[in-house]
Amino acid sequence: MQQLDIHTAVDRIREDQSHNQPLAEDRQGEALNLTDAQKAASVNGKNFYIESYGCQMNFSDSEIVASILLESGFGLTKNYEEADLILLNTCSIREKAEQRVRNRLNTFNKLKQNRPGTLVGILGCMAERLKSKLLDEEQIVDIVVGPDAYRTLPDLVADAGDGQKAVNVLLSREETYSDINPVRLDANGVTSFISIMRGCDNMCSFCVVPFTRGRERSRNAFSIVAEAQELFDRGYREVTLLGQNVDSYKWKHPETDETVTFAQLLSMVAAVNPLLRVRFSTSHPKDMLDDVLHAMAEHENVCNYIHLPVQSGSSRILKKMNRTYDREWYEGRVNAIRRIIPDCAISSDIITGFCSESDEDHAETMSLMRWVRYDMSYMFAYSERPGTLAARRYEDDVPEKVKKARLQEVIALQNEHALARNQQFVGKVCTVLVEKPSKRSDEDLCGRNDQNKMVIFPKENYQIGQYVDVLIESCSSATLKGKARGLAEIG
Ligand code: SAH
Ligand code: SF4
Ligand code: F3S
Repeated sequence: MQQLDIHTAVDRIREDQSHNQPLAEDRQGEALNLTDAQKAASVNGKNFYIESYGCQMNFSDSEIVASILLESGFGLTKNYEEADLILLNTCSIREKAEQRVRNRLNTFNKLKQNRPGTLVGILGCMAERLKSKLLDEEQIVDIVVGPDAYRTLPDLVADAGDGQKAVNVLLSREETYSDINPVRLDANGVTSFISIMRGCDNMCSFCVVPFTRGRERSRNAFSIVAEAQELFDRGYREVTLLGQNVDSYKWKHPETDETVTFAQLLSMVAAVNPLLRVRFSTSHPKDMLDDVLHAMAEHENVCNYIHLPVQSGSSRILKKMNRTYDREWYEGRVNAIRRIIPDCAISSDIITGFCSESDEDHAETMSLMRWVRYDMSYMFAYSERPGTLAARRYEDDVPEKVKKARLQEVIALQNEHALARNQQFVGKVCTVLVEKPSKRSDEDLCGRNDQNKMVIFPKENYQIGQYVDVLIESCSSATLKGKARGLAEIG
């Protein structure tokens, strides 16, 4: 196997973009944003409504689903009461996530009594986890489709319409939907997500994702770059590359056998245009090596922000979680980030109350947090998931009350750190990509700085999609506030 030389790769993308014109043109032709999609009247007289739960990958998948249905003649509606087909793209990560979906089905139950022809489909991770059991457990459900089977959705809808059972939960080793140009639902026209891989091979003992999403596979690098280019041409100024573990991205060119690593992919996407910001998520501490950090440091437009979930600060617990790194390794990775990209923001995911977690283990999580001082964290109490290694092998023995109390401590500490991190920006000028009007006031705009901090500032004459230099005057643990100094000079 040969490594693809990055300079020839970048030249090749440019060539490939012209060489791949049919693909690019097809994609342009298929490109629909929400407004177009809404305008796209249904050809078959049926409208679908889609609601998404869970991680960003699921939201991105909903855009693929929408593209497939629009292509096959359905119209899209934002009002479920007028839909012929109601789709819920679901999440199984914690018990609560599944409960939320089951509660939501009750709402649709009432609707179905009034409109008996309405079909209800469950997509995504719950569909994959529960399979046809869902049809038995939830009478209202007509269609069950796993994350690798969305291309068969139009046929399944037809089957369900004929009163047949409509289930497809086959997982694939190849499917990446790379030829589907997703419609952008809820688009702000400035920032967007690009799926670069699917599945996960990591088998963390607490996690249901490897079961619901199947084996890891990487998408064609050139189709990723083409999607980034097309978004840029349509006015987008930021893309976030998505995968459960982006650092293990590896794509092999089918003809030349050359490989593209994640560090190289970052450089390829960064080369699309200096005005296109590039972000990515999620990084796995075991795989995030210095090549990725050097690629980030080399490209001004790759943002200095890394989501590097630690899960626990105790090496004993990390081993039980099957994370395949220990505390020392994690600290080494944080040191590497600080050395190579000194102003890089770091965020984390933390689980409290994993099987056998003692007060000492919890104290180690707190001490690791104090050492890193994360800019932000997503924090959860452990929720046992059926079928996972932890569910089969370990007892879920930390009382709910203890899990919750530890979670509160972790949250309180994180809030302190987030505030302290944000205070470091007060008095400094940040370059902000303007995304939208601020939620609180129409007189303000908001957008993110390089480190992914939300910045709010008075609108004046600035516009969405512009890069603006903002002098930060104050902050909370969640946002920075300031005043525009002028348009930023980029590139
Ligand atoms: N691939 C990403 C995480 C995807 S799931 C990674 O490896 O970091 C997002 C987060 O949900 C995880 O990082 C973990 O903190 C949390 N999570 C996953 N399974 C969980 C469970 N059973 N209980 C509580 N939190 C869980
Ligand atoms: Fe789950 Fe671990 Fe894979 Fe993340 S890396 S999706 S936590 S198994
Ligand atoms: Fe949930 Fe599936 Fe994402 S379980 S977090 S929607 S991969």
